[in-house]
Amino acid sequence: MGGLILLANSAAQADQTSIFEPASPPAESIRTLAILVFVITLFIFFVVEGVLFYSIWRFRRHARDGNAANTPQTADPTDHVTEPPQVYGSKPIEVAWTAAPALIVFVLVLVTTRTLWEIKPDTPAPAAGDNALYVTVIGHQWWWEFRYTSYNGQPLDFITANELHVPASEDGTPRPIYLRLESADVVHSFWVPRLAGKIDLIPGVSNSLWFQTQEQGLFLGQCAEYCGTQHAGMLLRVVVDSPQDFEAWLANESKPAVDDPAVAQGKAAFLSESCINCHRVRGTPADGTYAPDLTHLMSRQTLASGLVANDRKNLRKWIDNPHDIKEGCLMPAFGLSADKLDLIVDYLATLK
Ligand code: CUA
Repeated sequence: MGGLILLANSAAQADQTSIFEPASPPAESIRTLAILVFVITLFIFFVVEGVLFYSIWRFRRHARDGNAANTPQTADPTDHVTEPPQVYGSKPIEVAWTAAPALIVFVLVLVTTRTLWEIKPDTPAPAAGDNALYVTVIGHQWWWEFRYTSYNGQPLDFITANELHVPASEDGTPRPIYLRLESADVVHSFWVPRLAGKIDLIPGVSNSLWFQTQEQGLFLGQCAEYCGTQHAGMLLRVVVDSPQDFEAWLANESKPAVDDPAVAQGKAAFLSESCINCHRVRGTPADGTYAPDLTHLMSRQTLASGLVANDRKNLRKWIDNPHDIKEGCLMPAFGLSADKLDLIVDYLATLK
């Protein structure tokens, strides 16, 4: 039973990242192209293998050839000759096997170019009433920074990490998502297969990507360009909310961090440590930009860029020694005392 559930889970997981389950126009175009290219290459495969196997069968050595292995077939002109006619240089054949592949390549270039054109984001400037969301995505070793800049023409100014919330489109009301993709260090690649094709995040370059979907729920993805030790631990989560839920989420994220007097001691402990050199908690002196913004840490479902659930136990484990969860990550273990760990976790757990 447990095995069955595990199997069902992994099947659901596979669907989550399948290019054959598109939920957004660019992903649909990519699936159509993939199927078309597959059919064309499958046809070529069967033609080539068909000719090969036909030749092997048709010109196989016959029993009556005797032990002709070492004997030239033409030794006895009256013997049964099994070799096909030997042709040296044939213009029609040369033309055929040059023209046919050239034609196929030409068709593949045309359909690929058409798809590239279809999925190319033609990012308009934000305008009032456009229902569009604009986010700048910055790749880091090994996590994702999301800077929300505009929704429905309203400027936004907050930063979150690893979980991208976007609004669902509805019939008659498309809500396109325009991403600007940049990198803080090395080349990464943003890939959520059910929503759009993968686009690289390159230092010093600004790339763009577009998608929209009516399907609410969680979409999984992954950094798709090797970027160092924890490349495989650079997971991506896109949460597509109903417009109402998304607006509620936006309103919460836009606020500075809650200041709960019950955890004043924990806050003081957090601010006294070097956490604040890398992390930001808006509304406090913690103003680091090197690591994820923690202003609304507890609104995220996972820690360590999607590796573990975001609960008190994992949070404590992470702060105690991040390398137990994500070996080689750039956050060091600070060797905090158990008391101090508890205080800091108490404080962080209030950042909803
Ligand atoms: Cu980032 Cu691979």
